[in-house]
Amino acid sequence: MTERVEIFEVGPRDGLQNEARDIPAAQKIALVDLLSGAGFSRIEVASFVSPKWVPQMASSAEVLAGITRAPGVRYAALTPNMRGLQDALAAKADEVAIFGSASEGFSRANINATIAESLERFAPVAEAARAVGVPVRGYVSCVTDCPYDGPTPPENVARVVGALHAMGCYEISLGDTIGQGTPERVAAMLAAVLEVVPAVQLAGHFHDTAGLALENIEVSLAHGLRVFDAAVGGLGGCPYAPGAAGNVATEKVHDRLMALGYATGLDRDVLRDAADMARAMRAG
Ligand code: HMG
Ligand code: MG
Repeated sequence: MTERVEIFEVGPRDGLQNEARDIPAAQKIALVDLLSGAGFSRIEVASFVSPKWVPQMASSAEVLAGITRAPGVRYAALTPNMRGLQDALAAKADEVAIFGSASEGFSRANINATIAESLERFAPVAEAARAVGVPVRGYVSCVTDCPYDGPTPPENVARVVGALHAMGCYEISLGDTIGQGTPERVAAMLAAVLEVVPAVQLAGHFHDTAGLALENIEVSLAHGLRVFDAAVGGLGGCPYAPGAAGNVATEKVHDRLMALGYATGLDRDVLRDAADMARAMRAG
């Protein structure tokens, strides 16, 4: 049987959070509703962060309230602190994510905390979510490079991954936030991380700034990873990572996985339509 690789669609969150234009909630809802028919199991649609920090995500509750939830799809939200978790639970997010960094510079710029402070902040969030049966995902940013601190030592990534795993994150997504990782350095990072957490609990999250995301996905596949985050139309970037390009495009990842002989369970026509819609939203 053909082996399945899952694409976790993050376009409505990671793709849109960086857009300067204020995208109306109705357009975001239309994109999510279209994506809901593509065959994804998980779609990240919201982020309960400070609207002063990321104004584009201020409509997250409206988006979660307005979408038509498809059976079998989990709609996910970022939750940096208890306030974010409370808002995400009130909006009925099916799963939440805490997001840390393997580098101090990005941690401060992105969430205004040292790595140690952020882990202290995340522990009660993870505990409270799990207490009400909501799965918690973890993100670690800057797994190969940081826009402020330069290259990230693999052991620093492993340490933060281990901490999020110990908090009960069911899966930890490894973010090449600025898309500068080379296959060799991704391999070295994965070797360190796999000492701490098995491949079935890891995901790859590659931004495509240097055009190496697909190669990095192939290296990750060789290390046993079977979940990859991507955004339709290659939308995105991170507001606190200068120069970061979009996530690798979902349709590109899909096509590469198919060429490699994997199944994704996704409908290519819906992906094309969603990529067109996402690009039109960006154009305004
Ligand atoms: P802070 O300023 O240190 O926190 O921000 P604070 O507790 O002092 O609060 C400051 C203000 O924010 C207060 O409002 C709070 O009420 C409000 P004020 O009194 O000034 O009017 N506030 C909130 N409002 C709404 N929802 C909340 C919330 N919390 C506080 N949850 C904080 C700390 C973490 C909140 C802030 O730094 C923040 O929101 N950062 C978000 C950064 C972000 O969203 N970045 C993008 C996502 S991460 C990413 O893209 C990377 C990823 O894709 C992986 C990869 O590519 O590497 C995941
Ligand atoms: Mg990202």
